[in-house]
Amino acid sequence: MFPDHCVMAVRGRSCKNMFTFIVLTLILFISLSEVDSKKTAAKCSVCKDIVENFQKGLLSTQKSNYGGGNTKWEEKSLGSYATSEVRLVEIMENLCNDGSKECHSVLEEYEELVERYWFKEFAQKKETDLYNYLCIEHMQVCCPNFTFGKDCSQCPGGNVRPCSGNGNCDGAGTRGGSGKCRCNSGYMGDLCNQCKDGYFEDYSNETHTLCKVCHISCKNTCSEEGPKGCDGCKDGWLENEELGCQDINECLEDPCNENQYCTNTQGSFTCFSCDGACVSCTGSGPDKCNECSPGFSMNETKFCFDNNECEADETLCKGENEVCKNTPGSYECRCKSGFTRTDNVCIRVAKETRSSKQPELPPNLAEHLKKTGSKRKDVSWDKFKDIPSVNGHFLVMALYGISCRFAASSNLAIFALSLLMVIHVVWFATNSR
Ligand SMILES: *[C@@H]1O[C@H](CO)[C@@H](O)[C@H](O)[C@H]1NC(C)=O
Ligand SMILES: *[C@@H]1O[C@H](CO)[C@@H](O)[C@H](O)[C@H]1NC(C)=O
Ligand SMILES: *[C@@H]1O[C@H](CO)[C@@H](O)[C@H](O)[C@H]1NC(C)=O
Repeated sequence: MFPDHCVMAVRGRSCKNMFTFIVLTLILFISLSEVDSKKTAAKCSVCKDIVENFQKGLLSTQKSNYGGGNTKWEEKSLGSYATSEVRLVEIMENLCNDGSKECHSVLEEYEELVERYWFKEFAQKKETDLYNYLCIEHMQVCCPNFTFGKDCSQCPGGNVRPCSGNGNCDGAGTRGGSGKCRCNSGYMGDLCNQCKDGYFEDYSNETHTLCKVCHISCKNTCSEEGPKGCDGCKDGWLENEELGCQDINECLEDPCNENQYCTNTQGSFTCFSCDGACVSCTGSGPDKCNECSPGFSMNETKFCFDNNECEADETLCKGENEVCKNTPGSYECRCKSGFTRTDNVCIRVAKETRSSKQPELPPNLAEHLKKTGSKRKDVSWDKFKDIPSVNGHFLVMALYGISCRFAASSNLAIFALSLLMVIHVVWFATNSR
């Protein structure tokens, strides 16, 4: 199979390449044949659609007639409408009503066949099924139910319940496919009549197999339903002679941190954080504390409420112009409104310091405002409009917007535009001071 020099130098480089080549070729062939069988399956479904539309066409033309004229004469000389070419043409017009290219090309190729069916079979009152005639026998793109492949071979498990009714036969009904059973979940084997690990056989006879999923507590396999059926228990479950696998309540061993509480789950447990009012707790909320956090006190219903330090101790925050503000678990000394803390003393906020904190205006705008004598307060949009650099800025932004609209199909162009825009914005922000 391999050239001599290859067998001699199995470890050699050229042979590695040879193997790679063979493997790749095999993969290519397998994928090609897969594509091929998919194509066959697609052709079969196109043919099915055509047949379906043909039946619809038969129905919709059932009550039709030759339009107008002397129907009696026409029927005599042209034959009855029911089997006429006129009716066939009407039906043929709508055989590809979804407008797919594939359908039209198939129909073009097999138009004569449909006509032959019409005159030789349908008009002769033979009870030939169009699907069998067209798709299976003449176009040879479909197979009878439960058969597959070029020669319409039978699917595994016979043609009543192939794959034991627990899976699908690959390619069934088409001229493609491998005919292998693809089993539903829980089933395995060539005939899908065996149960996968994690499932047990609930019922079976010659033709039927029913697999059911094992109980959640089973480690791998089981022989029957429920926790008693397990062949072994999962972690977090304990074997019990009478009851089977039983959930272990890990919370009994206090596995969580001090400021957490534990919730048992099937086979495990979860730790949740206590409420901020608790140091330790038995559940969620400030009413499940074992012990309150500092700054909280417990009332008679075991509720940890926040102490109001400001009310309890009137000596707090007695600095000049200070006020006491209660917080969860504590308090803060703040300055009265209109005051700010400087060197740990509350000082009245000066008017000048206030305005100097506002963002600076661009020079053009500042100059403009100086000239017109306006104050910042009553700057309105109209005044902005007269300032060239602001106008330019908005113009550039608009240009970016428009460019992005047209560059919408190229990620690279959008990225470049965004970058330019960021540079522009930074430039504008730094240069306009
Ligand atoms: C084949 O299967 C289709 C749908 O599954 C069904 O409508 C049709 O009657 C079947 N044909 C035969 C011959 O069993
Ligand atoms: C097997 O079981 C199915 C489902 O219960 C039943 O319909 C079928 O008749 C049985 N077949 C035989 C051969 O007992
Ligand atoms: C304890 O405090 C909570 C929350 O303020 C309140 O709902 C509850 O009635 C209080 N219990 C008593 C006995 O005062």
